[in-house]
Amino acid sequence: MTPVLALDNLSIAAGSKLLVSNLSFSLARGERLGLIGESGSGKSLTALAATGLLPAGLSPAGSAKLGGTEVIGTPNRALDRLRGTAVAIVFQEPLTALDPLMRIGKQVAEPLARRAKRDDAPLSGAALKQAVLALLAEVALPEPERIAQAYPHELSGGQRQRVAIAMALACKPDLLIADEPTTALDVTTQAEIWVCLTGWSASATWHCFLSATTCPLSPTPSARSWCSDRARP
Ligand SMILES: Nc1ncnc2c1ncn2[C@@H]1O[C@H](COP(=O)(O)OP(=O)(O)OP(=O)(O)O)[C@@H](O)[C@H]1O
Ligand SMILES: [Mg+2]
Repeated sequence: MTPVLALDNLSIAAGSKLLVSNLSFSLARGERLGLIGESGSGKSLTALAATGLLPAGLSPAGSAKLGGTEVIGTPNRALDRLRGTAVAIVFQEPLTALDPLMRIGKQVAEPLARRAKRDDAPLSGAALKQAVLALLAEVALPEPERIAQAYPHELSGGQRQRVAIAMALACKPDLLIADEPTTALDVTTQAEIWVCLTGWSASATWHCFLSATTCPLSPTPSARSWCSDRARP
C-alpha cells in the first residue's frame, strides 16, 4: 500500500550550507512516528519540506511523497489540493494558526465547512455549529459553547493549542504533522495535549507524525519507532 508519507534521501540546503542531509523514512497508514533531534537539527525544515512549505532561499533535494504524490519540485499551486486533505500541520505556537480578530467557533467552522463541501456533504447553519461544538469537545476543551464564542486572546495557551489541533482535525487529513505542539506549554498541559493527540491518532484510519526535540513523556506507546536523532550527519 502507498505510504502516507515517504522521504527518500531528502536534503535541504541554504546556498552551499547543508541543513538536512539524506533523510529517509516512510510512514504507513495508521502509524505514528516521532522525529527526535536537538534544536537546529532540522526537524521543522523536514516537516516544511514534506508539505512543500519551505521558505524561499532553501533548496530541497531528493524525494518527499505525500500519498504517492511527489512534493519536491512540484509547484505550490499544485500542492494546494493536498494541504488540508492529505496533510495538516500543527505548529509549536498556536497563535500562528489563529486569527486574533475572529471568534474561535468561526475559525473552526471554516475548515469543517471546506472539508464537508469536498466530501459532497455541505454543512451550514445549525448543523455546522453543532459540528464545531462536537469537535471542540473532541479535543477535550471545557465548555465548548463558551470557547466557540471566545477570541484567541481569551484562551489559555493549552486551550489555544487544542483549538489549533481541532482546526487541523477538521480537515480530516491522512497525515497530521505536529511540530513540537507542546513545547510552549506547562508540563501538565503537555501531557493533556499528548493524550489528546495519541487518542485521536489511535482512531481507525488516521495518522500522526510527531516531531519533537526530546522524547515527550513517552506519549506514543504504540508508535512504530522514533526516528533520527539528527537530521544531518
Ligand atoms: N530560512 C532559513 N534560512 C537559513 N537557514 C535556516 C532557515 N530556517 C532554518 N534554518 C537553519 O536550519 C537548521 C534547522 O532548522 P530547524 O528549524 O529545522 O531546526 P529544529 O530541529 O526544528 O530546531 P528546534 O528544535 O529549535 O525547533 C538550523 O540550523 C536553522 O538555523
Ligand atoms: Mg523546530
